[in-house]
Amino acid sequence: MSLVTTTEMFKKAYEGGYAIGAFNINNMEIVQGITEAAHELDSPIILQASKGARAYANSIYLVKLVEGALGLYPDLPIALHLDHGPDFETCKDCIDSGFTSVMIDASGEAFEKNIEITSKVVEYAHAHGVVVEAELGTLAGVEDDVNVSAEDSSYTNPEDVEEFVNKTGVDSLAIAIGTSHGAYKFKPGTKPQLRFDILEEVTRRLPGFPIVLHGASSVPQEYVKIINANGGALQDAIGVPEDQLRQAARSAVCKINIDSDLRLGMTAGIRQTFIKDPSVFDPRGYLKVGRQYVKDIVSHKIKDVLGSNGASSQLEKR
Ligand code: G3H
Ligand code: 13P
Ligand code: ZN
Repeated sequence: MSLVTTTEMFKKAYEGGYAIGAFNINNMEIVQGITEAAHELDSPIILQASKGARAYANSIYLVKLVEGALGLYPDLPIALHLDHGPDFETCKDCIDSGFTSVMIDASGEAFEKNIEITSKVVEYAHAHGVVVEAELGTLAGVEDDVNVSAEDSSYTNPEDVEEFVNKTGVDSLAIAIGTSHGAYKFKPGTKPQLRFDILEEVTRRLPGFPIVLHGASSVPQEYVKIINANGGALQDAIGVPEDQLRQAARSAVCKINIDSDLRLGMTAGIRQTFIKDPSVFDPRGYLKVGRQYVKDIVSHKIKDVLGSNGASSQLEKR
């Protein structure tokens, strides 16, 4: 009945040609929507909290919410992951407070500095039974208060990956192949295309090693439409086409990060409820619609994009 690391999840996902969804959590309804879907579909799941989420909800609440989900679904393999850990101290705090996986994101640093910072986190994490994700290459978009413009983003250089993984001892690697954070990933009128050639070259150099895809929301247009039909203003919101995510899930990509799509679902549910019935003022009335949309989105991802449904019973029982 405890949280798991991602080690076995990734091994099985790699062998089975599917990926594990890593969904961002910020409040109780989001945790409930994600875990209800994963439970119904017998899918392992990664719940991840960013620095911003930990500041918003207080990290202790998030850990307890995840423990609550585990109490409800004791057989569901859940990993609790720090998303975009900005420094050693934040990673250490998460490791010390029950997270089973952390990301140290030093991708904005020079290569040698990234190795140095990541190695320090790996040393501490491994000594405490926690796994580590790091990043090479820089995604465009906004995370917390860091905004990387498309011009400043850069694809991962496959020639760097072996040295980075060997020197740091990291457990998984996030790479930049054309995804970006947020709901505006591609310019209207352009054809979204991920760089599968880079992914293939990385895989050739790191056989069997789990790769992570950030910025992988597909920005489902049905939810954008609900938002805009109910007073929202999301113009030209475009995500990663789902067929490309499916292709990634079948490859060495073992973890696919999704946050923006959940934000769209929650917002669509709340906006729709307010416009339908302006007299609503009980938060349960609108949050439950948002929670249902989060669940619907996660169910769809698991079944139709990630392919992780049915996989949790194949993992060893804790
Ligand atoms: O990668 C960014 C995630 O969507 C988390 O966003 O830093 O605003 O919580 P946040
Ligand atoms: P999206 O903004 O595409 O949902 O990406 C989320 C993410 O990468 C979290 O780390
Ligand atoms: Zn990310």
